[in-house]
Amino acid sequence: MRVLLTGGSGFIGSHTVRMALKEPGISRVVNLDKLTYSGNLENLCDIEDERYRFIHGSINDSELLAETLGNEEIDSIIHLAAESHVDRSIDSVEPFVKTNIDGTRVILECVKDFFNSGKDISLIHVSTDEVYGSLGPDDLAFTEETPISPRNPYAATKAASDMLVQAFSNTFGLKVAITRCSNNYGPNQFPEKLIPLMALNAMEGKGLPIYGDGQQIRDWVHVNDHARGLILTLFGLNNGKIKPGEVINFGADNEKTNLEIVHEIIDLTDAKLEQIEYVRDRPGHDRRYSMGFEKAKRVIGWEPEVSWNMGISNTISWYRENEEWVNSIRTGEYLNWINRQYGG
Ligand code: NAD
Ligand code: DAU
Repeated sequence: MRVLLTGGSGFIGSHTVRMALKEPGISRVVNLDKLTYSGNLENLCDIEDERYRFIHGSINDSELLAETLGNEEIDSIIHLAAESHVDRSIDSVEPFVKTNIDGTRVILECVKDFFNSGKDISLIHVSTDEVYGSLGPDDLAFTEETPISPRNPYAATKAASDMLVQAFSNTFGLKVAITRCSNNYGPNQFPEKLIPLMALNAMEGKGLPIYGDGQQIRDWVHVNDHARGLILTLFGLNNGKIKPGEVINFGADNEKTNLEIVHEIIDLTDAKLEQIEYVRDRPGHDRRYSMGFEKAKRVIGWEPEVSWNMGISNTISWYRENEEWVNSIRTGEYLNWINRQYGG
């Protein structure tokens, strides 16, 4: 396979690039990334593999996309590029609509043009459990049949892109699949998200800002498990185990409250309980996510493999040992965001 990854310089994208390069069945890995605030060349700077190529550009650029698909003879796409942070979507919706919805439309139109001229390109559209909305404490986990019900602007733009993907599959016959995963954690995650933000603040003796009562629940998946799931989904779509238009969910049976997570981070970093600060809740904050992954198990043989205890302690160690990486993301943009969001 000759694979184009969009957003390969981000958190999940960079781990997926690494995993793709370990696959003997993949002969080319092209990473198209705009390098927004969360895209970082440092994430892949050690890759020395002639099968890998980085292209600096946007998924919204249809000419660049068509040229890349053609010149690189791409037959498969894993589409990860997005605006990914819920709090930023509450701050400003426009970039989310532009990248997540319109950027996905541009990719679909391009794949459709190739399809119409006789070249079938498989597309894995990487979505999220947030499109399903929020669960109560006793509700059953989301399944692929759960109706979508997004409740924040980020989730709404991901749901809209999912619907476009399904519409293009149904109307134009494109070979696409949608994956929906719950919260990821691991190395290289931009420290605006809960775990890296808390890890760095804990180690640096700063405040640990918990939104609301901290009893919100997320189902945490290690990023390497997600990346492996994406590659397996691509193989599944290409070998017919997954039918065009199907959805695959990834979860880990690893539900934790935010407060539990922060307590674990405090233990692992020898921080102090007094660093915890209860701050204003996120508007429209989803209470609980839980993802069933029976279908992933049955159809593509995927199960999470990284245990939480191992995964979280390795993640905290990674942030402790990678000061250079941490400094590389502490740009003016990041510091402005932290100031605006948390008041310094
Ligand atoms: P991230 O913010 O770390 O990375 C996003 C990447 O996309 C960055 O490298 C950025 O430069 C790039 N990008 C943004 N706009 C672009 C554009 N117009 N053209 C090309 N590249 C562009 O995000 P992440 O956490 O790695 O998430 C990746 C994908 O996985 C997203 O689609 C997200 O919705 C989905 N997802 C994330 C999680 C999670 O827990 N982080 C869970 C489920 C699904
Ligand atoms: O569920 C999958 C989604 O997980 C992905 O689709 C998104 O791209 C990804 O950003 C993530 O969204 P969340 O909003 O769940 O992740 P975040 O790390 O921002 O927050 C996790 C929880 O922690 C959430 O309940 C909000 C809370 N939180 C977050 C931050 C940054 C705090 O209490 N304090 C904080 O400072």
